[in-house]
Amino acid sequence: MTDAIRPLIAGNWKMNGLKAQAAEFDAMLNGAADVAGKADLLVCPPATLIAAFAEKARGKKAAVGAQDCHPKVSGAHTGDIAAEMLTDAGATAIIVGHSERRADHGESDILVKQKAEAAWRAGVTAIVCIGETQAQRDAGQTLEILRGQLNLSLPDASTAANLIVAYEPVWAIGTGLTPTAKDVEQIHGFIRELLTSRFKDEGARMRILYGGSVKPSNAAELMAVKNVNGALVGGASLKAADFLAIAKGCP
Ligand code: PGA
Repeated sequence: MTDAIRPLIAGNWKMNGLKAQAAEFDAMLNGAADVAGKADLLVCPPATLIAAFAEKARGKKAAVGAQDCHPKVSGAHTGDIAAEMLTDAGATAIIVGHSERRADHGESDILVKQKAEAAWRAGVTAIVCIGETQAQRDAGQTLEILRGQLNLSLPDASTAANLIVAYEPVWAIGTGLTPTAKDVEQIHGFIRELLTSRFKDEGARMRILYGGSVKPSNAAELMAVKNVNGALVGGASLKAADFLAIAKGCP
């Protein structure tokens, strides 16, 4: 059943991108139709570019998302952005709980869950990131850490339509290191088991993305792994040629 899940290739631009990079996004849109048979495409630029990119993406085969949101709808939270503001600008999905936010801003699983619910309140899909650090991996705690993050960061009402899990080993992000296909298969299989036992059919159909140093050269191997339903791509999503090549690598 999970084999029928349509892959999603999501680009996370992180804190990169000025108006001048719009040309790179245009190139992605131009190539999007060619990869539409393989995967859905989502680009999550910095919040400052969402509105402009969403305008360009209208009617095209790529969607625009956001990288984070505040759990509340409005209020005295200087510098924060509500999910409703992001969807108002054109975001159709919101990444929450990225390890860089968990580390840089001390975000807890409980906060990540509230942010996922905020994305739903605004009417869009939440992409919830989980992943172990190098130290946790070395200590043999990977599965235990992932189980805890999934239990606490995923709201009870999660469905295949409103929630996507992104497994991103922290040690693989931006390092050029990736787990072996065998490791990815084991971990994604473990995540699938937990999702299915908690969310039943919805859990069986939920997308589980792999993230961490996905590049054109390793995409085909990683995307072919059972229970890998796409990728969350950082560095390689900044270049249209690389991003589209990754999508082409989907089985
Ligand atoms: P990377 O980042 O592809 O640059 O490793 C992935 C991510 O953090 O989402």
